[in-house]
Amino acid sequence: MNKFFIIIAALFIGFSSYSQRKYMKPKFAENWSKPSKHPDHIVLNFSNDPATSISVTWRTSSEVTQAYGEIAVSHENPKFTNQAITKKAITNTLRSSNVVSYWNYRNPDQSLYSNINQNYHSVTFDDLNPNTVYAYRVGNGSIWSEWIQFKTASKSNDPFSFLYVGDAQNYILELWSRLIREGYKKDPNASFIIHAGDLVNDPHNEDQWHEWFKAGGWIHRSLPSLPVPGNHEYGPLYQDDLAEKVRKLSIQWNDQFTLPQNGVKGILETNYYVDYQGVRFVALNTNTMIKKQSEWLEDVLKNNPNKWTIAVFHHPVFSASRGRDNKIIREYWKPLFDKYKVDLALQGHDHSYTRGKVSPFEKNTLSGQNKKDLTGTVYVVSVSGGKMYQLKSNWDDYEAKRDKIGSQKQLFQVISIDGNKLLYKSYTALGELFDEFELVKNENGSNSIVQ
Ligand SMILES: [Fe+2]
Repeated sequence: MNKFFIIIAALFIGFSSYSQRKYMKPKFAENWSKPSKHPDHIVLNFSNDPATSISVTWRTSSEVTQAYGEIAVSHENPKFTNQAITKKAITNTLRSSNVVSYWNYRNPDQSLYSNINQNYHSVTFDDLNPNTVYAYRVGNGSIWSEWIQFKTASKSNDPFSFLYVGDAQNYILELWSRLIREGYKKDPNASFIIHAGDLVNDPHNEDQWHEWFKAGGWIHRSLPSLPVPGNHEYGPLYQDDLAEKVRKLSIQWNDQFTLPQNGVKGILETNYYVDYQGVRFVALNTNTMIKKQSEWLEDVLKNNPNKWTIAVFHHPVFSASRGRDNKIIREYWKPLFDKYKVDLALQGHDHSYTRGKVSPFEKNTLSGQNKKDLTGTVYVVSVSGGKMYQLKSNWDDYEAKRDKIGSQKQLFQVISIDGNKLLYKSYTALGELFDEFELVKNENGSNSIVQ
């Protein structure tokens, strides 16, 4: 009998010491995401006109204090590199101790604290020729990346396509890798990739950003990224923030991406717009300054010379999954989407798939018009990483209609625009077609949907 109690007591002590133990990285993984003198985390972004400009950002150890980007018009003759021009990079040091890397509001003891010490370098190449294949490389003058090709946008509204993915967030290296690589295989000529927030789970965790860069590999350095932050790009940065539940933008975000500076002051590079061959892409930050962004949004939508408008943000206007709702986003932004006829809203957050719409004039009496033809903004929620949630049973509360739902599916989307037609295709991680529709722009500015 005594023996039995001893065993139980030993098990109890063992379990409680295990549950109170701080989260520790295994020894073999300690240096896994550490930078070196060799450029890594190389990523392309638009920060000015995509027809004449491109920005590249990369990471090294902090011993690399001077860095450069080189660029040339690419050519079949490998001697094209002789024509390269060199531009000095802007270098920022990111050095911070005791960063909360594994946030857990309920149990701060389970948080992992880490030190970050690295340099970010960025170069914006301007005065490029439109519709031209360039090759660039980055380095410190003696250690260089490979020459990497990309194509500038056309000055006219030529047809093009792009990729859109929802939350990568979980199992990024394990499972998001196959998804993004399949996306690239499906449309290697895509002009860029939209990431609708929650790229990682723990905002300041360098290991997870390293996973994101490893999983995407050279896709990130070949196709420009248009990312917006999700709620998981905000979190406690230091111990004090944990206690006070203060959430701060990922400490890496502004250094790691070089995005347009045309958004709301105070949250630059988390909301912005880019015009690409007749389409205005409006990136919004659903985490903060919603009202302030409404004024900005109205201005950006009102003064828009483009035929198409696509909004990108994280928390959806109409939630896809159970127990979720973002009233403030719906209240402030949807009326503007209706008023200025935003064609498509690309969203994330809900770890499931839903596509649907509501006519902006649904409740009006429009004699002589078929209200079904007045297609309003098409709203999509999609997920690309490995975490999945349960779907809502309907959209009746929203008085909106779901046209397609899906769960337990890692998905990517290829969206193509050609004149008055927008073709949307959603594919599974296996590259199989899951959803498809076509939007057609009518003479009167309204859209028709064919599905
Ligand atoms: Fe989210």
